[in-house]
Amino acid sequence: MTEFKGIALSVLCLSIFISSCSDNERALFTASDWPAYGGQNNGQRYSTLTQINRDNVSRLQPAWQFDTDSAGSSQTQPVVVGGVVYGITPNLDVVALDGASGELLWSFSGLDGPSDFMGPSRGLAFWKEGDKEILFAGIVDKLFAIDPGNGELVAEFGDDGALDLRTGLPGDTSRFYVSLSSPGVIYRDTIIVGFRAAESPPAPPGDIRAFDVRTGALVWSFHTIPASGEFGADTWPENARATQGGANAWAGFALDDERGIVYVPTGSAVPDFFGGERTGDNLFANSLIALDASTGERLWHFQAIRHDIWDRDFPAPPSLVTVQREGRAIDAVAQTSKQGYVYLFDRVTGEPLFPIEERAVPTSSIAEEQAAPTQPFPTAPAPFARQELTADMLTTRSPEMNDWAREQFSNFLSAGQFMPFGTEQPTVVFPGFDGGAEWGGSAIDPGRGIIYINSNDIAWTGALAASPDGMGFAESLYQAQCAVCHGTDRQGSPPEFPALTNVSETLSPDEMRDIIRYGIGRMPGFPALAPAAVSGLTDLVLNPESVSSSNIEEDSVPSLSSDGSDVPYRFTGYHRFFDPDGYPAVAPPWGTLNAIDLNTGEYLWKIPFGEHPELKAQGIENTGSENYGGPVLTESGLLFIGATLFDQKFRAYDAATGALLWEYEMPYSGMATPAVYMVDGRQYVVIATSNSRNPRAEQGSAYIAFALPE
Ligand code: HEC
Repeated sequence: MTEFKGIALSVLCLSIFISSCSDNERALFTASDWPAYGGQNNGQRYSTLTQINRDNVSRLQPAWQFDTDSAGSSQTQPVVVGGVVYGITPNLDVVALDGASGELLWSFSGLDGPSDFMGPSRGLAFWKEGDKEILFAGIVDKLFAIDPGNGELVAEFGDDGALDLRTGLPGDTSRFYVSLSSPGVIYRDTIIVGFRAAESPPAPPGDIRAFDVRTGALVWSFHTIPASGEFGADTWPENARATQGGANAWAGFALDDERGIVYVPTGSAVPDFFGGERTGDNLFANSLIALDASTGERLWHFQAIRHDIWDRDFPAPPSLVTVQREGRAIDAVAQTSKQGYVYLFDRVTGEPLFPIEERAVPTSSIAEEQAAPTQPFPTAPAPFARQELTADMLTTRSPEMNDWAREQFSNFLSAGQFMPFGTEQPTVVFPGFDGGAEWGGSAIDPGRGIIYINSNDIAWTGALAASPDGMGFAESLYQAQCAVCHGTDRQGSPPEFPALTNVSETLSPDEMRDIIRYGIGRMPGFPALAPAAVSGLTDLVLNPESVSSSNIEEDSVPSLSSDGSDVPYRFTGYHRFFDPDGYPAVAPPWGTLNAIDLNTGEYLWKIPFGEHPELKAQGIENTGSENYGGPVLTESGLLFIGATLFDQKFRAYDAATGALLWEYEMPYSGMATPAVYMVDGRQYVVIATSNSRNPRAEQGSAYIAFALPE
């Protein structure tokens, strides 16, 4: 009966009752489900379930644990439909788990290449019409359409159930690294996707595309790097779609089902840190773009950073919210940023709901770089992370560490946001390259207009170096493609970006070649590099003494000579400003959890978030810590969040006050956003856990579901 109703209503939905359509479609799912990344398409990470509440949450306990038998990183927020939890393992297997027992129902592997090489896949998309259902999973550069009933591919979609996301992008697509690190969003019978791309050329333009859920046919495409004649083309050099890349949306979307508007947050153009070859504001990089979800037509946009040369991607999906202004309800969209800003716009008009001021910012010391003269600053809410590092904000862990940090800091340039990198001294990036906000997203209290945001609050530094003349080709490839993460001197920024100085002790040349080809963990693959280039880099890293400057003929890698190996400036690597013991060299809090009333822009509460257990044991408490993965909120007023990197805890806070009501130490860190669902009358909160970001801890990964005792 219900199924019949579903079919009948979606037929109506296509023809007449557009405005009531989404309600009917949503009725296909129930409050017990968590049918989309972010909970619903609105990105609110909100559940109306109330069985677990302030009074009983202290009794919450693990109900089941599903071990993935993998030590990689698990950043997936599952979708849950009809009591089945659909997740992704660190090996990029898609798994269906019984929501009540955690029992594996089926698993699907679509990986093309060695099983240990992959980027994250943070979620799935679920389409349903009547009794037809399709689960969509992004596995590196493929979008798979899977039958959620049995884990088999839906053959009618794309090429026997898979779509190569590189198809249709401009240029020689075999050279592009593309990965669907955050899932698409479903609008009616389409799935709308972006992708993650390489940080150095060659990278494709970050087209936003809608595909038919049944066939995989392209329905529309929006050019985040405009073609000549399109709006914004004058903010790039000529012919930008052929020569430039990036401006891609890797963090996911929010969608207003009723109005049919999709909100798209984009990242920076490529390369991240030197813009001398992409003069102009570079629309629609670093923008929040509102697109008509049926046509891909642009309705409005806001560019948060003109001509980004700091890698200040919009790192999180937006969230829809309704706020009250002078007695009137305004439907709005909130977007968080790495700098620690929350931008709030009227969802329909794009009008900022708190004033955004255009302010003059510093120029670049590099002759070839034209930094934008002004940048937009939101005047409210106040940033949720600190903005400018000064000497009085350095670590107080001990007087010796404070002296050490002052000495280091005296060599840095610290001038808040938007100080272009130079070649003379490191520039402070605060908050760091990992935010501020990150990919986990925010939770919204839809009735009250409150946003909950977890934030990192530590400093990093960055600098450029001129590319020396007369470098051997392998070295110049290394500097162009690898130095951004592993450092110009191969020292990396451990533990996240490993040093490559001693890898000959642990890696064979074959293993190294595979890593370069396919990527590993957070490292993208480099399909554009010809075999000779891969071998040259392998020799260079494993056996530097043997490499002469002429060991590879530049002719053997023609695809790269005009593609980045000749960029005049290189980024010298991501460096966290850490003290010699490996703790942030800024004073705590190093991570925070924030509740902001978006009606007024005022903070309801702000607390340090996360612990370093060994510091706590020494009596150094309330430090906060780095955190990745976001919160979810329930109607019973509970904010659930894992995310903290070192203490491996899953926590429930009183959303009204920020009081900690419950915490549980898990076997691994909950580096992901949880999901809330109900099966057979019992409410669960499930989170993916893994320890790959904390190499000193025991490695492994598992999905863990919590519930009240039966
Ligand atoms: C966007 C950042 C990034 C870029 C660019 C990058 N890497 Fe990596 N690389 C990483 C990260 C992060 C890891 C650790 C991966 C993990 O285990 O999660 C890594 C790991 C490695 C490893 C394995 C190290 C070990 O200790 O086992 C090698 C070798 C390596 N990279 C070589 C390269 C080479 C060569 C290039 C250039 C072609 C390159 N990388 C470009 C981020 C990057």
